[in-house]
Formats: sequence, C-alpha cells, structure tokens
Amino acid sequence: MASDTTSLLERIDTEIRVSSSRDATLQAICDLMNRELDGYDWVGFYLVDPDSPRELILGPYRGDATDHVRIPFGRGICGQVAESEETFVSADVTREDNYLSCSSSVRSEIVVPVMAGGRFVGQLDIDSHAVDRFGGSDRDLCEAICRKLTALFEGHR
Ligand code: SME
Repeated sequence: MASDTTSLLERIDTEIRVSSSRDATLQAICDLMNRELDGYDWVGFYLVDPDSPRELILGPYRGDATDHVRIPFGRGICGQVAESEETFVSADVTREDNYLSCSSSVRSEIVVPVMAGGRFVGQLDIDSHAVDRFGGSDRDLCEAICRKLTALFEGHR
C-alpha cells in the first residue's frame, strides 16, 4: 500500500485505540477520510437498526445532510449491500436502476459492509462528485478499514 494509505490506516488504528465510544470513533474516521482523500465528498456509516433488523439507520457521517436516514434492506445501493454483504462500487450512479440519490452532485459511490461475529452490522458508504472515483486501491483501503471496526461492534467498547 502507498505510504499515505499506511499512514491513514495507522491514524485509524489510533482512533480505535483511544476511542471513548463506537460512534465517536466512526465520526473520527468519517472526518479523517473526508479531509484526507480527494473526492471522498460524503463519508458515512449506515448501521443495522437493532429494533428493526431489516432496516439501516444513518450513523455518523461527514458531508451534506441526507434525506435517507432510514433505508430498508434491498433499497438503493446501501440496501443491496445489506442483503449481499458484499462491497458494491458504482462508477456512474446515473446508470443504476436501484439507487437512492442524496444529491445531484454525486456521480460515483462505494459501499463496504462491516461484519462482526459473522453478522452484517452496518456499512461504510462513500459518495464522490467525480465519475469512477473508486478503483481497486480505494476498495482495498475501505475494506481494510471496515475489517478494523469489528471489535467496535462486538461489545468490546
Ligand atoms: N446512494 C445511497 C443512499 C445513501 S446516500 O448516498 C448518503 C443508495 O443508493 O443507497
């Protein structure tokens, strides 16, 4: 991995280590990624609603406010990832037929599942104003970050 990516992952490790709460850590990660990575224009987490396990609720995020604060499994890119439990990259969101638009400025998107104890618990969602912003190195980085989050969802904090 490039050294700037290694440094970002090290900073995220530190955030996880010093974290006072799960949501504080998730917010710090959103802030860091949005600030440090070009074109990561909206960075946020959707979490499985413990009271309605087939729905996602908006968690910490950095970027413009979104109308999509609850998303049923199956709806939009986020809802599809909740069902597939696999990373979804859209190079051009205008070509998606199952897509929830947050803003007409958004052109590409990546959504990466967060798993804990073998269960899907939430997802990292990133929007870019650039077409085809998310390539293989972005996918590797986002998946590495999501793997680090497992402990936050297993009651260790
Ligand atoms: N575009 C997502 C909705 C969430 S916003 O990007 C913040 C989707 O299609 O599920």
